[in-house]
Amino acid sequence: MKLFIDTANIEDIKKAHFYGVLDGVTTNPTLLSKEGADPLAQLEKICEVVKGPVSAEVTALDSETMVKEALDLSKIASNIVIKVPCTTEGLKATRELSSKNINTNLTLCFSPSQALLVAKAGATYVSPFIGRLDDISTEGMNLVADIRLIYDNYGISTQIIAASIRHPIHFLEAARIGAGVATVPFAVIEKLMNHPLTDKGIKRFLDDWAKLKDNLSK
Ligand code: G3P
Repeated sequence: MKLFIDTANIEDIKKAHFYGVLDGVTTNPTLLSKEGADPLAQLEKICEVVKGPVSAEVTALDSETMVKEALDLSKIASNIVIKVPCTTEGLKATRELSSKNINTNLTLCFSPSQALLVAKAGATYVSPFIGRLDDISTEGMNLVADIRLIYDNYGISTQIIAASIRHPIHFLEAARIGAGVATVPFAVIEKLMNHPLTDKGIKRFLDDWAKLKDNLSK
């Protein structure tokens, strides 16, 4: 499973990048607004660090303007992927962007039917939002499993990005189901590597090492 970071914060992106595990970045208008900088400049900075796919979202609601925005965003760098909402206008925009060989990430996906239709329209990625479904007492991970099943039934190559991931169990479940990508906030990426037994084990090794050094120096 590929690992994307879900943020527009350049420091967090750099940290995850230098861990050597980062395959791409997803942003959205909320994440970019948190940074308070010019969004195009911020996306440019991100693309200087990460050479894998960097998702940048359109804000228009009609397909014609979505495509115009997408063409502008595509000029930032060759690895920009255009995030388009799962709406009927989004389908039209996706079809057109796909015919222009522009990669798309169909976002705000909350049903398997949406995922099937966006794939038919030529989506490169689809982003089911797990955490937001959990928030309304629905098993978000079932959506990822349903999309996996449907895509496998028909040999669909659209990649599933497990999105709106809130904790390490979401990440693990997405990998079990076979999502192609998980996009994960920085704080959760750090939690994925933390384990109390690793820390305890390091401490014991270092204590024993220090004891040996002490004994040898006597
Ligand atoms: O990738 C989608 C993500 O940014 C949404 O996450 O936590 O706002 O539901 P969240």
